[in-house]
Amino acid sequence: MNILFVASECAPFVKTGGLADVIGSVPKALETLGHSVRIMLPAYPDLKKWLKHGKTLLELEDLFGGPASVSAARANGLNLLLLDAPHLFDRPGSIYLDEEGLDWEDNPTRFGALSLIGAKVGLDGIGGWKPDVVNAHDWQAGLVPVYMHQSGRKAPPSVMTIHNIAFQGLFDGSVRHPLGLSEDLYEPDGYEYWGHVGYLKGGIAMADKVTTVSPTYARELLTPDFGMGLDGLLQSREDDLCGILNGIDTEVWNPETDPALVQPFSARSLKHRCANREWLEQHFEIEPDPESPLFCVISRLTTQKGLDLLLEAIPSLVHRGARLIVLGSGDKKLEISYKAMASQFPQSIGVEIGYNEDLAHKMQGGSDAILIPSRFEPCGLTQLYGLRYGTIPVVARTGGLADTIVDANAAALAGKCATGIQFSPITVEGVEKAIARTCDLFKDKKNWKTMMRRAMVQEVGWDQSALLYERLFTSLLND
Ligand code: ADP
Ligand code: GLC
Repeated sequence: MNILFVASECAPFVKTGGLADVIGSVPKALETLGHSVRIMLPAYPDLKKWLKHGKTLLELEDLFGGPASVSAARANGLNLLLLDAPHLFDRPGSIYLDEEGLDWEDNPTRFGALSLIGAKVGLDGIGGWKPDVVNAHDWQAGLVPVYMHQSGRKAPPSVMTIHNIAFQGLFDGSVRHPLGLSEDLYEPDGYEYWGHVGYLKGGIAMADKVTTVSPTYARELLTPDFGMGLDGLLQSREDDLCGILNGIDTEVWNPETDPALVQPFSARSLKHRCANREWLEQHFEIEPDPESPLFCVISRLTTQKGLDLLLEAIPSLVHRGARLIVLGSGDKKLEISYKAMASQFPQSIGVEIGYNEDLAHKMQGGSDAILIPSRFEPCGLTQLYGLRYGTIPVVARTGGLADTIVDANAAALAGKCATGIQFSPITVEGVEKAIARTCDLFKDKKNWKTMMRRAMVQEVGWDQSALLYERLFTSLLND
């Protein structure tokens, strides 16, 4: 089967979060099953060099204000279709934000263009390759099903995947005119949302199927607490909605071969892990202590991730003799507050503000536990990396976190299936109690090591979930 992905990020080329990891890994698993996957991405500066190795397959004189082309390139084991439109994508800095940290003003045009050309390739194919199914990811590709639908032509079936409903791509209703969106679909059953153009809304309304990235989040999305205004629409599409759990790239995230680690290790050679822990203690300039757990956080610093709750729980963490290292960026207030905590407790708390892929790997390789107190979490990947590296996940009971971690309660410990700590309610007190439980469990070195080894052998790759995507896509072909 030929499958077209349309997305705005793809690891290792361009990444702001988990979306990139997924787009950079699931196609490989689908190819192993014998399918041909092409990923349409904007040719941002970091992807431009691949254009030189690529072949131009489509040229357009004018795509919303400038010339554009689509080139095919094979890079890092992935088949990319790069949309080169310099007036939209060739600019320095963040792919979504300008120098002042605000959304680029022309984001509606930029991702409207990505969707339009995604739909064109969906309808016409490219370079002799025609997709049997089109999978649009997140709001940036949300208009793909809309453009295919409004063409009135026979289109391949489409799937809209929601990675995070908090980001919906809502813009002033007037943007529909320059984008050439159909007036007929500017209505509640189409892409209109309370007088706005809703990119994700349009995709959910017009796609043949809707997926999200964990079964629990699929259920949560149907409720007002999690649906963020789209719960009604999703309820109306309940029969077409399913949650398929994310996997991870087990080659990139492999503690036995990870080049970022000071010392690689496996479930059978856990003693080699110590060198990574010592490196982290030095790097973050915290007091070494083999007897106390070293917690880490690797995250966007936002309220979604519950990091305001963790901040308030830090004094109690320090009081218990535990230590915490944080790598993240995002909300400026949180950045400042975390830095202040590191100054207040320099021996126990280390904070690095920024984005650092190499350090993220090192932290997974040397910490004892990874804290993820998210208020909502569609899937979450860092707990999966934690499992693979024996960094015990301590997670809020929500979304994909609830689906991937087995809480170390008495029954699970007796049944030898615990892989981490889950907590609820998601409050400061909940976080404090989870930290306290982790510290207690850590004291029992033998059982802790058993839990680490069990975590490390969990199935976290794409094998199972790629089969579910395959089944879903196949069902659409047979409809
Ligand atoms: P989300 O996509 O909501 O941010 P995920 O857990 O799905 O959350 O994915 C986050 C990804 O981004 C992971 O690969 C994680 O390691 C990475 N990440 C987050 N913050 C940083 C950072 N500051 N430096 C390096 N990697 C980070
Ligand atoms: C989003 C979600 C995260 C998920 C990722 C990849 O960014 O916030 O939970 O893991 O997408 O699907």
